[in-house]
Amino acid sequence: MSMSVEDCTQAREGFPRPYPNTPSNVLEQLRLTGKVVVVNGAADGIGLAVAEAMAEANANVALWYNSNEAAVERSQALAKIHNVKTAAYKVEVSDHNQVYEAIATVVRDFGKIDVFIANAGMAISKPILEQTVDEYRKQMSVNVDGVLFCAKYAGEVFKRQGFGNLIITSSMSGHTVNVPVDQPVYNASKAFVTHFGKSLAREWREFARVNIVSPGFFDTKMGASPLAMHEAYRMSSLGRQGHVKEIKGLYLYLASDASSYMTGTDVLIDGGYVLP
Ligand SMILES: NC(=O)c1ccc[n+]([C@@H]2O[C@H](COP(=O)([O-])OP(=O)(O)OC[C@H]3O[C@@H](n4cnc5c(N)ncnc54)[C@H](OP(=O)(O)O)[C@@H]3O)[C@@H](O)[C@H]2O)c1
Repeated sequence: MSMSVEDCTQAREGFPRPYPNTPSNVLEQLRLTGKVVVVNGAADGIGLAVAEAMAEANANVALWYNSNEAAVERSQALAKIHNVKTAAYKVEVSDHNQVYEAIATVVRDFGKIDVFIANAGMAISKPILEQTVDEYRKQMSVNVDGVLFCAKYAGEVFKRQGFGNLIITSSMSGHTVNVPVDQPVYNASKAFVTHFGKSLAREWREFARVNIVSPGFFDTKMGASPLAMHEAYRMSSLGRQGHVKEIKGLYLYLASDASSYMTGTDVLIDGGYVLP
């Protein structure tokens, strides 16, 4: 039962909480000097652009990859260009032991984790009546289990540290049934992580923020397939897919002190696809 008006007017000890001790200059708020950011799915696509954004803002960055060894060279290039510390780690996110070990290793190597960006994902885009049980399990193991394992073990670090910031890459497909390719399992896997992230924002309210990014079609390996491409251009109000450089600012905002009053939010960045 809700509290009565009388109960609600009683001051609660410790409230209101103090404002954070952050700069008032917005460009200073956006700087990540001294912060440690983990990005998974960081070898290419959205994850690589996000890792670049973090290094450009002066963060030290741990880039996780699974099969794409280019992450190693790209990590070294970021360190050299931006004069920050980086390292690449090979981690299969659907294996909870690997995730646990990799998080412990990052903490050993970098001393802490300020921001964890759970970005890895995959799709086997088929109608359920054509999808095998193994294909269903594979998508759930990466998109759902992978995010959950990263959140669980990064969350343990955040709680121990007393601070942290989790950003989950979901999808507009968690909001809308995008067309014309039926892909109910992928869509539902993204709806899971969106609501999971919002729920964590409450669970972790004493020590960490959690936000979700829901991209529409971006021009990456996972972007619009030849079957979906022309419909993607028609459905998006801006008439095209996004370029990965156009998503960097959003992740930087969410990773930085500029978003210190933001938690439990799911931000659509889709060129207006979900609008109609
Ligand atoms: N592009 C879009 O239109 C779009 C739209 C909405 C949402 N998204 C989401 O954005 C995220 C990034 O996708 P992207 O567009 O940048 O495509 P991408 O370049 O194919 O990136 C997907 C990343 O996920 C990683 N990954 C896949 N399976 C993994 C596993 N089992 N363990 C660890 N890492 C794994 C891949 O790592 P390796 O290459 O090293 O194997 C890859 O770097 C995904 O979560 C995707 O669902 C993309």
